[in-house]
Amino acid sequence: MIELTHTISETAEAIRQQTAEGKTIGFVPTMGALHEGHLTLVRQAALENDFVVVSIFVNPIQFNNPDDLARYPRTMDEDIQKLEGSGCRQVFAPSVAEMYPEPDLTEFDFGLLDKVMEGKYRPGHFKGVAIVVKRLFEIVKPHKAYFGEKDFQQVAIIKKMVQMLQIPIEIIPCPIVREADGLAMSSRNARLTAEERTQATLMYKALLGVKENYSWFIPAGVKQLVTGEINESPYFRVEYVDVVDTATLLPFEDWNEAEHAVVCVAAFIGSVRLIDNIRLY
Ligand code: PAJ
Repeated sequence: MIELTHTISETAEAIRQQTAEGKTIGFVPTMGALHEGHLTLVRQAALENDFVVVSIFVNPIQFNNPDDLARYPRTMDEDIQKLEGSGCRQVFAPSVAEMYPEPDLTEFDFGLLDKVMEGKYRPGHFKGVAIVVKRLFEIVKPHKAYFGEKDFQQVAIIKKMVQMLQIPIEIIPCPIVREADGLAMSSRNARLTAEERTQATLMYKALLGVKENYSWFIPAGVKQLVTGEINESPYFRVEYVDVVDTATLLPFEDWNEAEHAVVCVAAFIGSVRLIDNIRLY
């Protein structure tokens, strides 16, 4: 059975009891509208911890676009149903007033990590993410917390935050879960029309294509190639394609300058903004 809590005090107390019994706590923060991507994180957390907590909170301060916040799907009953049998034991679903009785004015210095890619196009987004995740970590106090590599930059920011603030939580990055045709699962996919949904696979196909052939090009060439391929579809409008070092998230000029590289993409299809990425090496 899953226990559902809405307040910080009852959540912290329920988890404290588990910790007092010597149980290890695994934590999966989400904004709900759960799909197989989220559930895979939960199942992995259940394999590696005694007690798994999932938070469901549509965090208003990480939305830079008010329309996106208003249209974000809220499906609490279905979410709880989907979590049954996943290994989740506790769902924390606070209200906005519970999480932010006062505006949270915490500032972080992530250097360039939150200025590039998503940070450039979604100003303030990562500050909002860091604030909410820090608060959730303080409430849940997990041993391990699970994040999807679909949001590659988010994982880098959370790792950096934990390191800077010396928070004793292990951050576990998890692979991207995809639909059968390769489209990365996302709560936003539900907003695609049937036609757009068919076209959407192009994004992953372009990424997969360069994974095989990247070494024939310089990094800037890969950026150009992927941008061109996606923009070729009249349905898509690329916001950015960047080939970056997985550690710094910064672009580089030659393959030998980065130990590991990832191609990150954000593109609009209609009014829906999709992101994806692939590691090259
Ligand atoms: P949300 O978009 O709900 O995602 C919750 C977690 O699920 C994130 O770690 C995300 O990377 C992961 N996830 C989503 N789709 C995935 C997929 N297709 N494959 C693998 N993992 C996937 O990310 C957030 O919420 C918020 O920013 C949050 C961290 C909860 C802070 O508000």
